[in-house]
Amino acid sequence: MAPHVSYPLQDVPGIDISPVVRDLIDRGPVHPVDTAGGRIGWLVTGHDAVQEVLRDPQFSRAAMTGDAADPLGGAFEGPGAIVSLDPPDHTRVRKVIAASFTPRTITRLRPGVEVIAEQLVTAMIASGSPGDLVAGVGVPLPLMVICELLGVPYEDRATFSRWADSIMAISSISPDEASANKQSLLGYLHDLVRARRNEAQHDLVSLLAHTPTGDGTPLDGLEIANLCIGILVGGYDTTANEICNMVFLLCTNPHLMAHARTGSTGLNETIDEMMRWIALSINVGFPRKATRDTVLGGQPIAAGDVVFPDVIAANRDASVFADPHSLVPGRENQRRTLLFGSGPHFCPGAHLARTEIEVALSTLLRRLPGLRLAVAPEEVPWRWGQLVRGPRELLISW
Ligand code: HEM
Repeated sequence: MAPHVSYPLQDVPGIDISPVVRDLIDRGPVHPVDTAGGRIGWLVTGHDAVQEVLRDPQFSRAAMTGDAADPLGGAFEGPGAIVSLDPPDHTRVRKVIAASFTPRTITRLRPGVEVIAEQLVTAMIASGSPGDLVAGVGVPLPLMVICELLGVPYEDRATFSRWADSIMAISSISPDEASANKQSLLGYLHDLVRARRNEAQHDLVSLLAHTPTGDGTPLDGLEIANLCIGILVGGYDTTANEICNMVFLLCTNPHLMAHARTGSTGLNETIDEMMRWIALSINVGFPRKATRDTVLGGQPIAAGDVVFPDVIAANRDASVFADPHSLVPGRENQRRTLLFGSGPHFCPGAHLARTEIEVALSTLLRRLPGLRLAVAPEEVPWRWGQLVRGPRELLISW
């Protein structure tokens, strides 16, 4: 008999896929779940079905607004909150940021990311082994990159990151606290937009404040503030945890460490495979609502039903990835991972995240030839009650 599943799913320590989801994957592509809104919803685990939900506009993000079944509540709602918009509103906002995230633009950011990585690793070495990778490199690197990109002044970064962390909390803080922190962050960004409207600088907020949208109308201050929250929250916590999770995997899987140390192709293949395998979230995030009766993966879905596309489960679908629960760098179909989504909301920061991860790992491997965990793997403390999973602290030696 299929297990009874409630969504959001229970957190489990570590970064492997939840045992509940692993069990479901083998049973079929679409599964009934009880939602926090008190209705039946559908957890989608099959690769093709997840891709269909992400690409087909009949599964709407905008229709989820205010729905209690969304584990993140209203954290990503409001004008300009890109991930909660449907076309044509979505297209209008997406066009404004498109130019800032092309591979060519991000390639130009790479030298700056390399300097930051070098400085952080140097400082960690200077403080002596063992060091905490989370505080030393994992968190500050993406935070510095995103603040640099947006144009957030250096002295505001600590407060900025505290507010950002609380937006991704599923159960680690109260909904009132999360909502108050989101308002503070919105207010802060709104002020920044005003400042940049008066005096533009070389940063993304200035660009957003001065570029007309696809239909010619400029984004207003609140739209830009909400858009920046999407960019900040989408881009900082995810990348920070991915870097630390990957170092944990390298240190606990000698075949991965050996492959990553064979050169840039080996490192890239290892990163691709770790990206596919790591369950960066238990509750993958952005649910959609069916806007008409349909059939998904053989399962009838009624108009108004909520569907949860689980990209992590899709990355373990045996019909696409042979022996999906093993870590095999250089495997076939590597690029079919759905970690960065698919369709209109496909992660605009994918190339930037890739660059940051690659730079962080190559710098660590080069500067720390003896890189290893300073504690037993089972003693690593894991984050709890956050959307994104990763170690709270990762003590490494070199
Ligand atoms: C390892 C790091 C990252 C992962 C795993 C990730 C994953 C994702 C996924 C799966 C989506 C699609 C969500 C959906 O359709 O439901 C998404 C969207 C998004 N991501 Fe990322 N992301 C990462 C890094 C970044 C970075 C570095 C940035 C920006 C600097 C960023 C900004 C965004 C934005 C703004 C969206 C919304 C796009 C839209 O709605 O059109 N992400 N991300």
